Amino acid sequence: MDIIRTQTELNTAISNRRKQGDKIGFVPTMGALHAGHISLIHRARQHGECVVVSIFVNPTQFAPHEDFDSYPRDEAQDAKNLEDAGVDILFLPTEKTLYPNGHDTDIKADISANGLETVFRPHFFDGVVNVVSRLFTAVKPDIAVFGEKDFQQLQVIKEMVTKENLPIEIIGAPIIRDKDGLALSSRNTYLSESELLVARQLNKILTIASQSQDIETAKASLLSAGFDKIDYVEMRWNRVLAAAWIGKTRLIDNISL
Ligand code: PAF
Repeated sequence: MDIIRTQTELNTAISNRRKQGDKIGFVPTMGALHAGHISLIHRARQHGECVVVSIFVNPTQFAPHEDFDSYPRDEAQDAKNLEDAGVDILFLPTEKTLYPNGHDTDIKADISANGLETVFRPHFFDGVVNVVSRLFTAVKPDIAVFGEKDFQQLQVIKEMVTKENLPIEIIGAPIIRDKDGLALSSRNTYLSESELLVARQLNKILTIASQSQDIETAKASLLSAGFDKIDYVEMRWNRVLAAAWIGKTRLIDNISL
């Protein structure tokens, strides 16, 4: 696996692969990799002979009071996991490489960003499209894979690619869950043993809600299961989507109706 930190090195590596006729599959991440990310890599491999993964904890998608500083970072372990998963290129851009002229962007999140996450994290999707469009310009992939756990993010990125007319196919990959159905997330590492017990109720309650379509009962069940606060439980895109807090940790999940 090539570990690349600059745009110049990346251009050379990608153009070498293109000369061999390889398609480029791309998985952007913020690191702290788990089996969910590895499943995205396998999906990218089905569509491209060269798989590129980026790790960049993107400052523009965190509000000042959010967990940018404490977000889990372990470059050495991530690199090892990616090597084991057969990744060809690991791109580790610096902030200067991705944002040479500051954080401003002309590209903004569009209609899919309305509601849900945006009500509680108004800065989030503009930050995501800002960094993803810069990563797409840097990597120039043929396809890119995003997890369905961030279902609204997947819709926002598909919309951005269509609007900007980018020649990139966006592929959604199913949520990977632990043996109790908890959706894997880098933020699960924040949870204590007792909080994990509560977290594991989220998918169960959403599964019931996906059958009954009774949102109010789902909210009441989350609170009685031990969730401290509910940002939303809503139906959209033929799914029931939720965000809820246990202590200082915010979890999201969604289940198809
Ligand atoms: O889903 C994520 O990990 C991030 O939002 C992404 C797409 C890598 C952009 O920073």
